[in-house]
Amino acid sequence: MPIKKIGIVGAGQMGSGIAHVVALSGFDVAVNDLERDRFDKALSSIDKNLTRQVASGKIDEEEKKRTLARIKFAESFADFADADLVVEAATEEETVKRKIFVALCPYLKPDAIVSTNTSSISITRLAAATDRPEHFIGLHFMNPAPVMELVEMIRGIATDDVTFARTREFVDALGKTVAVSEDFPAFMVNRILLPMINEAVYTLYEGVGSVDAIDTAMRLGAHHPMGPLQLADFIGLDTCLSIMQVLYEGLADSKYRPCPLLVKYVEAGWLGRKTHRGFYDYRGDTPMPTR
Ligand code: CAA
Repeated sequence: MPIKKIGIVGAGQMGSGIAHVVALSGFDVAVNDLERDRFDKALSSIDKNLTRQVASGKIDEEEKKRTLARIKFAESFADFADADLVVEAATEEETVKRKIFVALCPYLKPDAIVSTNTSSISITRLAAATDRPEHFIGLHFMNPAPVMELVEMIRGIATDDVTFARTREFVDALGKTVAVSEDFPAFMVNRILLPMINEAVYTLYEGVGSVDAIDTAMRLGAHHPMGPLQLADFIGLDTCLSIMQVLYEGLADSKYRPCPLLVKYVEAGWLGRKTHRGFYDYRGDTPMPTR
């Protein structure tokens, strides 16, 4: 049974990016969020990002229209009754995700696959909050989802072969490349990327370099498309901190301790681009370093 209808929980940065990719590949998609307003904002950002793809000749105006028409608002989980696959892309907090799975599962078809876009939390543990651990899988998209080619696939201890094969076929249909990861804290990309970002924050904290110097060093010295502090703001400093905490606690190794300066920025509510301030201040015309 191929996957045709997709449900997405969460209309934030990742939920909207995933909806964009999925609808552009011809799937019908329903997106649930607590507030209709958040869905409307997601749809307008998808519209803007599709326009960029039209401008660069990747798609045409007709494709853009068809893509937008495939994306609907799901007022409640009851609207996922015909979904073949649900992607949970809510906030990176285990209690929130668990509550969603408990509320969601009773509405789904028995063979519907439930997946999570968690960037770090144990798939096996999240699966245990559902009524179908064998039909549960980790599908980790990268940000911005319409641009990044990779999807990490992570099986929980109970994920069966049919679920893995059906999901992989779906990811292939999106034109993404799969990298399979074992179910260990933060999987592969974030296990490697986040300690680098955390180290960049330590480099700033210890006064080795300024925000600008550190980012310039890594952009020009290592050919990274964004400097690590710019990337941290792009990912969201709260998400960066929560991934470091998962690594620190999950692997019980002090080398993963989150930098106190990262904690301070999060405590200040300076979460990066989404709050208009992080390692850079985005409130003016050009981003200005905050240290
Ligand atoms: N939707 C659609 N297209 C987009 C887009 C979006 N959201 N964002 C950028 N683009 C397109 C642009 O239209 C442009 O297309 P063309 O080349 O066809 O003109 C192309 O992407 C490049 O964009 P820009 O010219 O605006 O800017 P750029 O060259 O600086 O690239 C970037 C932007 C692709 C984001 C690049 O800076 C980059 O790759 N940054 C690193 C991103 C990264 O590392 N992501 C992973 C984060 S980790 C993660 O996601 C895991 C996690 O769980 C935390």
